Amino acid sequence: MEHARAFAELDEVVWDPISMATVLRSSPQFGELVLDACCGNGASAVPTAELVGPSGAVDAIDLSESMIELARERAERESAPLPQLRLHAADVLEWEPTGYDLVQCVLGVFFFLDPEAGARRLVERLKPGGRFAVTLWAPSAFEEFTKALCDAVEAEGGEAGSEAVAAYRDRAVPSVPESPGALAQWLGGLGLEQTRGELVPRHVDLDDDLSWRLVMGMSRSRLVADLNDETRERVATRFRELLAERGITRADLSTIIGVGHLPA
Ligand SMILES: C[S@@+](CC[C@H](N)C(=O)[O-])C[C@H]1O[C@@H](n2cnc3c(N)ncnc32)[C@H](O)[C@@H]1O
Repeated sequence: MEHARAFAELDEVVWDPISMATVLRSSPQFGELVLDACCGNGASAVPTAELVGPSGAVDAIDLSESMIELARERAERESAPLPQLRLHAADVLEWEPTGYDLVQCVLGVFFFLDPEAGARRLVERLKPGGRFAVTLWAPSAFEEFTKALCDAVEAEGGEAGSEAVAAYRDRAVPSVPESPGALAQWLGGLGLEQTRGELVPRHVDLDDDLSWRLVMGMSRSRLVADLNDETRERVATRFRELLAERGITRADLSTIIGVGHLPA
C-alpha cells in the first residue's frame, strides 16, 4: 500500500491530466460498455464511469489490490455513487469478457512482457466497430530527470545503489512505438482502422518536494528501494543538487496517445 499511496500523491500533477487527455480522445459515450485496463487508482476509470452514466458500465482492472482500493476511495471522494464502475483486482491479460464499445489503457501496455501481444489481446475484447485508446510515455519523458537520478544514486548510494542503477540500465525495455506516426501504424497492425497518434506535450515546474515525490511515486523508485533511510537522504540531496547544476527546472511528462477502431 505504501507505493500505491506515493503513486496517488502524484494524481494532480501526473496521472489525472494524462488520463483526462486520454478520455478526451477516447470519448466515452452515455450507455457504453468500457474496459479500463491497468486502471491504477482510477484516474481515467472514474471520469469514464461518470460519462457512460448509469446505463453504461466500466470494468476497471488492475493487478494491484492496493490500487483498486485507492480507486474505490477516489470514486467515493470525487463522485456521486457510481454503481456502473466495477473495480477488479486481476491480470487484465487474463480477462475473458468481450463486447466492449471502448477499451482504453493509460500508461499500461509497456508493463506487459510483450506489449504488442498484450495490446492485441485487449483489442480482442472489443465488439465490432469498437474503439481502442492507448497512452504511452513520449521518448523524451523524464529523460534528463532519470539520468540525474541514476547519477545521484551511483554517487551516493554505495554498493546497493550501483547495483540498482546497473539493474535499471540492463532492464529489458519493452518495445513500444516512439512517435505518433509509429503508434498509428502499430494500431493498424493490430487490425484497427482510422488510426491516429498524437503527441501531447506536458511539462511541470520542479521544486525540491515535487522532484522527490516524482521519484518515490513512480516505477523509478526501485532505484532507491534497497537503500537505508540515511543513504536515501544523501541521494535525495545529491539529486536536487544535480538538477540545479544541470539547470533542470522542469520535468517532461509528454505522452503519445493513439486511437483506432475495430472494423464493424
Ligand atoms: C503507471 S500505472 C498507470 C495507472 C493508470 N492507468 C493511470 O494512468 O493513472 C500502471 C498500472 O498498470 C498495472 N498493471 C500492469 N500490468 C498489469 C496487468 N497485466 N493487468 C492489470 N494491471 C496491470 C499496474 O499495477 C499499475 O497500477
